[in-house]
Amino acid sequence: METIEQVIECSIVKLQTKKEGKFMSNLNIGIILGSTRQGRVCPQVGEWVKGVADKRGDANYEIVDVADYKLPMFGEVDASEQAGAWNSKLASLDGFVFIVAEYNHSITASLKNALDFARDAWNNKAAGIVSYGSVGGARAAEHLRGILGELSVADVRVHPALSLFTDFENGSVFKPADLHLTNVNGMLDQVLAWSGALKTIRQ
Ligand SMILES: Cc1cc2nc3c(=O)[nH]c(=O)nc-3n(C[C@H](O)[C@H](O)[C@H](O)COP(=O)(O)O)c2cc1C
Repeated sequence: METIEQVIECSIVKLQTKKEGKFMSNLNIGIILGSTRQGRVCPQVGEWVKGVADKRGDANYEIVDVADYKLPMFGEVDASEQAGAWNSKLASLDGFVFIVAEYNHSITASLKNALDFARDAWNNKAAGIVSYGSVGGARAAEHLRGILGELSVADVRVHPALSLFTDFENGSVFKPADLHLTNVNGMLDQVLAWSGALKTIRQ
């Protein structure tokens, strides 16, 4: 039987660890690389987000590269093998962080195609968006929010938006400004909270 002092001390420790961001959940969060072209900068951005996320020590974060799944254009050829691998990966995840390049004021065709290749595996999960472009990839990010609504993915409000002019050297070497760290952590706070909450309705 614990004394009242022990119960209070235990609660304080739990509160402190949570406040310090060290509370380890069993959530699996996929950091989805949404551009697939040769010479893309997307992996640099994804690795940076993963580095920030891993330091928090509060979930299992992994890079999920759309390019690895070699998805053909949806419906053009039999792609059951690729679709199976893609859906299995998504099914293993509780939440997502989309790394979004802006192409012609929207998301890349490869990301839209990858979104179309699954339905149930997206449903009732949470997502954050990290975008980049001449105006922070804002137009692509807003398009993505509309698509996620249809897939029953709850996209969080905090949105790190990176500038091709000030967060990259020559548009190709990623050197993010310090202020984005706060936003990435704020976005991850929301993704974890909502991923945990939504997991309860999938069980
Ligand atoms: C087909 C294409 C269209 C683009 N359209 C836009 C655009 O509308 N707005 C923008 O800010 N940047 C645009 N860009 C610039 C990209 O944001 C920039 O090249 C970025 O590095 C692309 O991400 P990635 O290197 O990961 O593919 C475009 C790039 C490509 C290849």
